[in-house]
Amino acid sequence: MGKRRIGILTGGGDCPGLNAVIRGVTKTAITKYGLEVIGFYDGFQGLIENRFTLLNYETVSGILTQGGTILGTSNKANPFEHFIMENDKQIVKDVSKNTMELYHDLGLDALITVGGDGTMTISGMLGKIGANVVGVPKTIDKDLMETDTTFGFDTARNIATEAIDRLHSTAQSHHRVMIVEVMGRNAGWLALESGIAGGGDVILLPEIPYDINEIIQVVRQRSRFGKRFSIVVVAEGARPEGGEQVVKKVVHDSPEKIRLGGIGHTIAAQIEDATRIECRVTILGHLQRGGTPTPLDRILATQFAVKATELVMENQFNKMVALKGNQITAVPMEKVMGKQKLVPVDSDLIQAGLAVGTHFGKKLQ
Ligand code: F6P
Repeated sequence: MGKRRIGILTGGGDCPGLNAVIRGVTKTAITKYGLEVIGFYDGFQGLIENRFTLLNYETVSGILTQGGTILGTSNKANPFEHFIMENDKQIVKDVSKNTMELYHDLGLDALITVGGDGTMTISGMLGKIGANVVGVPKTIDKDLMETDTTFGFDTARNIATEAIDRLHSTAQSHHRVMIVEVMGRNAGWLALESGIAGGGDVILLPEIPYDINEIIQVVRQRSRFGKRFSIVVVAEGARPEGGEQVVKKVVHDSPEKIRLGGIGHTIAAQIEDATRIECRVTILGHLQRGGTPTPLDRILATQFAVKATELVMENQFNKMVALKGNQITAVPMEKVMGKQKLVPVDSDLIQAGLAVGTHFGKKLQ
């Protein structure tokens, strides 16, 4: 029997720690288990198009601290919904059968997929048609089910918290309302945790539709009691009671078509109109996904990588590695596919925020 061969790909939006996983899988697979590792370029796109590279000690050396992914990624590629141009028209094709043929032709014993809920859903579907898949959860949104956290989140939370800290200077000096919009899609984890860490006066989450009059009242009250500035941390997915999220862009050829963004401007205009206090908006955007991962994310990514490779060796497929308490463990992919982990409105952290006077855009007590 020849050398066993595994593949790895990074799918979905990039996030700090992806390279740490690529390095962790490659080094573990080569040194501990004598496997051959190939890395597919641009997520599932590389798997569909047979574009890959052999990974070895040299190729993964020095990448632990680098942001992004040396393999490239795509948040559009999906073998079950592959967009191609035919006669100047974009059409959708299911190329999963061809993809599986390629998987077998390449002699792959397993495929490690590193990504968010979209990547895990596609991985689970490939698992159902014969691929031996192990998933590794990444996302700055922390919205994957069955794991306490995902790598990438800690770095994004640090970046957002530092931004909130820095915005305090201008807020205080100019007596302004500073509105910071953070990512997170439909989940409020990033806004909640950076908002609490940064001492946001108002934190708006997708899970708690806000009443703008409540926010205006908080700003007015703070001003009346001598605090002539306010910091509002708003998740990009936040929306008013009875209203809609603000859509920044629709990406038609992406499995997740909606890109959120811009709610900060709506809120700023409404607060300024009602209070006559100057408002400014900072949208952190992709800054939150860039740069070197924190030590915590590097450690988690490395532990996930080692566990994923172990699962391959134990023939435990269609599973995602996960963190539960202090344990690195594995959960069935089935339990993760097509789901999102949202902030529970009665969460301890929201209760802690309320106790220290944070407002969540709605009366909660
Ligand atoms: O899922 C990660 C994430 O950064 C979300 O927080 C955000 O809504 C989305 O990706 C942005 O996607 P894109 O990079 O396609 O604009």
